[in-house]
Order: sequence, then C-alpha cells, then structure tokens
Amino acid sequence: MTMPRKKLIEVSIPLEAINKASAREKSIRHGHPSTLHLWWARRPLAACRAVVFAQLVDDPSSWPERFPTEETQEAERRRLHKVIEDMVPWEASNDETILNAARFEIARSVAWGLGEEPPAKGDGKAILDYLQTKAPPVYDPFSGGGSIPLEAQRLGLRAYGSDLNPVAVLIGKALVEIPPKFAGLPPVNPKSQAELKRGGRWNSKGAEGLAEDVRYYGQWMRDEAERRIGHLYPNATLEDGSDATVIAWLWARTVRSPDPAAKGAKVPLVTSFMLSTKDGKKTWVEPVIDASAADGWRFHVKSGKLTKADEDEKKKGTKTGRGTNFACVLTGSSISPDYTREEGLAGRLGKRLMAIVAEGDRSRVYLSPSHEHEAIAAEARPGDTSAIEVEMPENPRWFSPPGYGMTRYVDLFTSRQLVALTTFSDLAYEAREKALADARAAGVGQRPSSSDVPRDGAPLHSGGMGAGAYADAIATYLGLIVGRCTDAWSSITSWASTGEFIRNTFARQALPMVWDFSECNPFSASTGNFNNGIEWTCLALTRASAASPGEIHQITAQNNNYPVSPVLISTDPPYYDNIGYADLSDFFYVWHRRTLSNVWPDLYRRLTVPKEAELVATPYRHGGKAQAEAFFMNGMGEALTAMRNAAADGEPLAIYYAFKQAEAAEDGTTSAGWASFLQAVVDSGLAVDGTWPIRTERQARTIGVGTNALASSIVLVCRKRSPAATVATRSEFIRALKREMPDAIAKIRAAGVGPVDMQQAVIGPGMGVFTRFVEVLEDDDSAMTVKTSLSVINRVWEEIDNEIVASFDPETQVALTWFGSYGFDARASGELIGLATAKDTATNGLYASGVFKDLKGKSALMPREELPENWSPSSDRTLTIWECVQHVARTLNDPAGGAQAAARLIAEMGPKAADARALLDRLFKIATDKGWAPEALVYNQLAEEWPHLLDRSANISGELRQATTGDLFG
Ligand SMILES: C[S@@+](CC[C@H](N)C(=O)[O-])C[C@H]1O[C@@H](n2cnc3c(N)ncnc32)[C@H](O)[C@@H]1O
Repeated sequence: MTMPRKKLIEVSIPLEAINKASAREKSIRHGHPSTLHLWWARRPLAACRAVVFAQLVDDPSSWPERFPTEETQEAERRRLHKVIEDMVPWEASNDETILNAARFEIARSVAWGLGEEPPAKGDGKAILDYLQTKAPPVYDPFSGGGSIPLEAQRLGLRAYGSDLNPVAVLIGKALVEIPPKFAGLPPVNPKSQAELKRGGRWNSKGAEGLAEDVRYYGQWMRDEAERRIGHLYPNATLEDGSDATVIAWLWARTVRSPDPAAKGAKVPLVTSFMLSTKDGKKTWVEPVIDASAADGWRFHVKSGKLTKADEDEKKKGTKTGRGTNFACVLTGSSISPDYTREEGLAGRLGKRLMAIVAEGDRSRVYLSPSHEHEAIAAEARPGDTSAIEVEMPENPRWFSPPGYGMTRYVDLFTSRQLVALTTFSDLAYEAREKALADARAAGVGQRPSSSDVPRDGAPLHSGGMGAGAYADAIATYLGLIVGRCTDAWSSITSWASTGEFIRNTFARQALPMVWDFSECNPFSASTGNFNNGIEWTCLALTRASAASPGEIHQITAQNNNYPVSPVLISTDPPYYDNIGYADLSDFFYVWHRRTLSNVWPDLYRRLTVPKEAELVATPYRHGGKAQAEAFFMNGMGEALTAMRNAAADGEPLAIYYAFKQAEAAEDGTTSAGWASFLQAVVDSGLAVDGTWPIRTERQARTIGVGTNALASSIVLVCRKRSPAATVATRSEFIRALKREMPDAIAKIRAAGVGPVDMQQAVIGPGMGVFTRFVEVLEDDDSAMTVKTSLSVINRVWEEIDNEIVASFDPETQVALTWFGSYGFDARASGELIGLATAKDTATNGLYASGVFKDLKGKSALMPREELPENWSPSSDRTLTIWECVQHVARTLNDPAGGAQAAARLIAEMGPKAADARALLDRLFKIATDKGWAPEALVYNQLAEEWPHLLDRSANISGELRQATTGDLFG
C-alpha cells in the first residue's frame, strides 16, 4: 500500500475561524436549514463544511516537488486556511463565488492525485462535473438532520447519508435528496403558471420552484382548514368592544384539592402568574375567590406596575417550592407531588382557561378568560387519531407526562389541538392530489411510454421524477410543516412571559410535564401559526444547496453494507446516552406517519420508530446500566468497523465526538467516556491522527477552570491502520512522541489554535504515534490502553513545553515563576532577589529590562497598561520574551495601536516571535489554574490572533528589509 497523501485536516485547520462561525450560526434562524424541522444535536454547518473540505484537500507537505521548503508549505497552508476562513461564515453558504473557490481546491487535490490538471478555476460547471465523477462520495452513516451530507453537497460532492430513524431520514431527504431532483423547475401551481403564461420569467434557481409550490399549497391548506374548523377559534372582544384575533389561549391544569374544606373543588396548578414581564407592560393573572364561580374561584387578568418583590411572588404561581409542590388557592393547604400524581393516574386532572392573548395594535393584549371561549374549546371533536394513540416509553428521565396518567402521545394534545392537527394532516394529502393534477397539467416529467409505467411515473420513494413524484415531494414538505406545528401545538408548550411567545414542546431534549400551557391559534398572524410553518419551511428549502445529487437512506449503522463505496466518511455519531433520539422522535413520527405513510410507505410501516438497534446507552431498554454500556460500545465498534471497511484509502475519516463539559478531565485529558470511545476507534482497526476541538458556544467572558471547557465536540481524524504496522515498546513510543510532537505542536500553534484548545488538539498527533503501532507493550508485556497512552502523551507534551520554557532568557523565567505565585501583585523585593539568584541573574537587570517594577522595598511585574508606548524590540538592548508577549498584548488592545502596530512588533522580534507564541500557552495555563479568567482570556485571544498578526508581520518584514537595503544602497 502506498502512503496516502496527508490531508489538511491531519496537519492544521483554522480552528478559531471555524469555531467563531459555528458559534455565530447558532443565532441565525432566517433560512437556516435547521428550521425545516426540529432535530436534536445538529452540528453547525460551518464546522461540517470545513471538516469535509479539509478531509479532501491535501496538506502542502504532500507535494514536496511543488512546495519544496517549510516556508512555501506554510505559505500555501495559510492560503488554504484563508479559503476555509472565507467559506465558513453563514453568509458564504449560498455565495457561488466563494463556494466555487473552495470546490476548485478540492478538485485540484483530486486531480493532482490522479496525475491530472483540474478544470479551469473560473469554470464552475466543469469543476462541479469533475467533482461528481472523480472525487469520492461523502457518506455520513449517522446523518440525523443531514448537516454533513448537506455541506458535502454544497461543496459539489456526491452526498450520502443514512440514519436508523425514519424522522431523521425524512428530514435528510427533504434537505438533501429532494431539492436537487427538482432543481430549476418552475412552479406548477395555477397562480404561478398563469403568471408564466402571461410572459413572467422564472429564475430557475435551485429548488425555488418547489418552494413556491409548497408555499401555494400550504396556503391552500390553511385557507381550507380555516373554512372547515375556523369556528373553533373565536375572536376575542377587547375592552372597547372591538374584535381581535386570538393568538393563544393559556390554560392551567387543575386537580381536586386534597383539603376536605375545599369539598372536592378543582384548583389550578400554575407555575407562574406572569403573562408579560416586559417593562411598562407588566401583566399577570390573579386567582380570585368567588363563590359564584365554578369551584369557587376564577382567574382575572391585571396589568400595571409591580415591585420586584411582587413580581417575584407572582412568578411562583401556586407553587410552594421546587418540583411538583403546589398550594390550594382556596385553602392554602399544600398539594404534594404524590397526590397530584395519584390524581393524574386516576385520570382526574382537568384544565381551566387562565387567560386569552389577542392581537392588539402592535402589541399583545391579555384578557381574562371567558365562558364562551371555554365552551367553544370543549366542542372540538377530533377526527381519526388512531395513529397517535401510541404509548410513550416509561422512561421518566425524558418523559414526565406518563407519570401523571398521560401515557399516550394523543394525551399531549387538547381536543381542539387534535382537531387542528388531524385537519391539517388530512389536508396535506388532499393538497397532494391538487398538486398532482397541476403537475400533470404543467407537464412535469416524461409521459410514460408503456402501460407498465404508472401514468405519473414512479413515486418519489422509488426514485421517480415525474408528476407523481413531484406531488409526493410537495406532500412531504407539507407533512413536515404539520410535524413542525405539533412542536408548537401541544399542551407541553408554555407561554414565555419575557418575549411573549409560545415556547415549543421541545424547548429541552425531553417531554416534561407542563402545568400551565399555551394553545396556539393556527390562523392568527402571530407566534406558532400555520403560515409561520409554511414560511420557515420554504425559506429553508430555498437555501438548500441542490448543487449536486444526494441520497439519504434508512440504514442501521452497525449493519451498513454501504450502498456506495469506497466513500469518504464524515460523521457525527450519537454520544452515549445524551439524547434519546428514537424515544423523543415518536412524538413527530406518529404525526408524520398519519400524514405521509402513503408517500413514504417504507419509512412509516411500523407504528413507532425502530429502537432496538439505536446506539444510545439507555439502561431502561437494555436491562441496566452495565448492559446499556456494553451494548453501546459493542454496537459502536461494529459501526466503526463497517465505516472502516467502506472508507476510501486516500482520505482520512472524520468522526465527531460530542464532548461534555463535565468530561474536561480530572487528570488532564483522560475522562472515561473519551478514552473508551478512542479505544473503540482503535479496536476497529483505525488509527487516530488528528483531534480538533470544535466549539459552538461563544467564548464566554470567563473561561472555565481547566482547558477546553468550552469544546462541544471533538473531531477525530482517523486512517485505516496500515497492515504493515508493528509492535513497539513503551520507550520506543515515548521516543517517537518526543521526535514528532514538537513539529506537530508548532504547526497547530501556527494555525491559531489557542491555548484553550491546545490540550485536545495535541492529542491528535500523539494518538497518531500511538495508533501507528499494532500495540505498544508495557514493561510487563501487556498492551498499553488508550487511557494510559493519553497520559503519556500529556506528559511528553509537558516535557516538550518545559524544554521550550527552559530555553527562554532568565528574566522571562523569573517573571514566569513570579507570575505563577503573585500575578501582577506587589511583594517584598526579597522574594525577587531570591528568584533572581536561583536563575543566576541580577535583580537590577530585571528592573532595567522593564520586566519588573521597583516599588521601593517592594517589586511587581510591570503592568501592561504602564508599558512604554514607544517600545521597539529592535532597539531594546535587553529584549526578553516576556516583554515581547506583554507589549504585543498591550498594543493589540490599545485603541492607538491595533493589529498593524502589534504585527510590526512581531516583525521586529524576528525568531523570538515563535518563543513568544509558546510563552502564551504557559501564561494561559497559569492564569486558568489560578482562576484569573480575564488574564487567561488575554493570552488565549492573542494566541488565536497570532497567525493573522504573523501574516501582517511577514509583509512588514519585507518592507523593513527593503528599507534597510534602501538605506545601504539608496
Ligand atoms: C448526533 S446525531 C447526528 C446529528 C447530525 N450530524 C446533524 O447535524 O443533524 C446522531 C444520529 O445517530 C442516529 N442513530 C442512532 N443510532 C443509530 C444507529 N444504530 N444507526 C444509524 N443511526 C443511528 C440518531 O438517530 C441521530 O440522528
């Protein structure tokens, strides 16, 4: 086997830019593909895009004949990093110029590997064609919401994904598989067709035609539903007598008071009485004792001024403490969790209208409940709900309602919510019939030539492209809109009083019990309405890539024979027991099944989502914790082996590992979950040679104690272990680490990986050395475990770092020791004299160099803000690494300085710049160990900025050289 070429992801990636774009993406909603339908634990598209790109693009060191020196390789690496930096922001995701530039780089690596030349850089179409035929297909065997295949597709690659969960498969199909099939087609609906016949032009961009049709038939569904069931959603009467559309009805569940004095009256269980907490608009509900009202009490909505204490009191509702502890509004006696549970299990919980939220003049209006509105809601009689009458799992970790007698999915909806959802579900299929007639009329697809072919061509689920398949596609999106609505239209939704909107069912990755819930009006123009669903879905569809074909299959990863191979594996498996995808997704599945089983018969054959083979360590499913762990590790091992077998030889595999903050290890890097996962990877015949921490959280103002506290996943870069791998001893392993790691660490630093991420990033090359061997033998001939190898790697890294620090000037070493004890605080000068003597340097020199400050009897490190502004490394006769770091940090953050001034300092430092960068890691470590978060942040940010400063400094160095030459010869 010839050695495969090293890929960028095995050497360095611009982590900071990727992390920044990933974190920023979280706040983007408009048109983001994730808004198509909820799926849990989606990876940021920025990270997925960058990872696939860096898996395919060669590291310049793979081409020594083209990039013969370290310098040329580093310059080329920086250029490729820039391509990544340009393509990761959300704004770039539909920017064809930027995407083409990225696609070209992939095509170039593929072409060079084949001994060919890539198509011309500007010829986007030729590049796409080339990638379609020559680049390996990308495959994600745990594709979930489809982020990785979507990004592979965006990069012009053949994209495949599979998941065992039908809900995920449908979302993936809607995002990746269906849009390219109908890309470029004009809409078929009568309104758009009439427009086209009148001479209107269609832009043929991506799946915009399909999106326009979904919008049209979605609107038809909404109008038709309003005609059929609109009478169940009465307007509210405002104080001035005018009518207003209701946005939501807010209900409180009730329970019989346990206090005999209340004589069996049902009393409300309310977790907050506040309806709006906005300043100047405080609104709340008050329970009023009223003998003439049902059960002797009623709700009354009030607004006005509230003291903070009053507001806090109202925020408690009828609760008396944490958990399900309430008080009776009539007698004040307590209602225990056990009592409420018993009443619930006996089917005796009720509900009472608490408030009505209506559309006012540019703001919400809150009204007291009315009998008429309550009576109308009680009239609702749902259609066929048999598909929804499915039991929820008995797993209190994620499902609370069964504990209160609400054991089936159907119990999570009010009758009126069921009327709405069954009506819209029926209408999605009726809309399909309309769309079919319109698609036929518009001539979608080929006319069948033989009587064996169905009139409208094959259905979508068996690969059709004709009118029938097109109608299936429209129905799929309409069905997904209904699915989306279930998230907003259940009785597990609550009213968010801060933002005045309906908080969706899956505000968390669980189905909790909600005591005071919202019931949305599907026909309003506000929060949770059906039109919102149409709009978000269509926006996401318009932004889908559709650049190249994609396929999403329903396959269990352990038994995956891969419908296509060899492939480039890029995948994000489930992490242990974090999320119960299969259990949670039944909430959607039952509705999808009711709506779409005719369109996707294979996906919806079963009553619920298949669960047995799901790689989630759920003790209740496997008969205990240990069995669940064994099931997970064995299954993951099988899935990894299947990946290894299907993987191409030329490119590394990328496997995301969801890293929990709690795992930022007790002893450095070796947390149990992380080590076992790595062990499973190694046992499946893979060698690890890169580990990149990806963050999706914005860097907080305070960095958590310990490194890498913010990583939310780690991308493991793996290769198939070479069949020629040999056995090594512990000392051979350590020698190889010492030989290879310094260079790898330098490259990682040069890429701008900040100290916060260093510890995880350094594992990559270390594990690369470890897993290159079949086994590393301990002194007693037993095989070294991954867990032990991680601590060895960590120790060697520390030694390497210590050696670097030991090579620093004595002033810097004294400063480091001082900093570790006192930070920038002043201490008796005797302390400094002691330290100086130990390092064989004079105290006077420490003051003279500008590192320390003489405070007459006391000494302190020179604070950054007191450093002289006109300092210049080239004229400092006692230049120290310490000063280099502190001056650059000061200058960078100084309004009068900035990046250019900081880069100039670096340019003047010459070779000392590399030492300064290394010192940042040490300073960061000290500051985090001491809990000096703001100080740690200074060093981390500077380290992440470093490569950009280096780039600038390279130009400045050029100018400086010219200036010097000019001086000599000018
Ligand atoms: C972390 S999620 C993937 C999320 C995805 N990368 C995204 O951005 O949307 C893991 C996925 O693995 C799927 N899964 C769990 N067990 C599986 C199995 N045995 N075979 C295939 N897929 C499985 C789950 O259904 C879930 O969608």
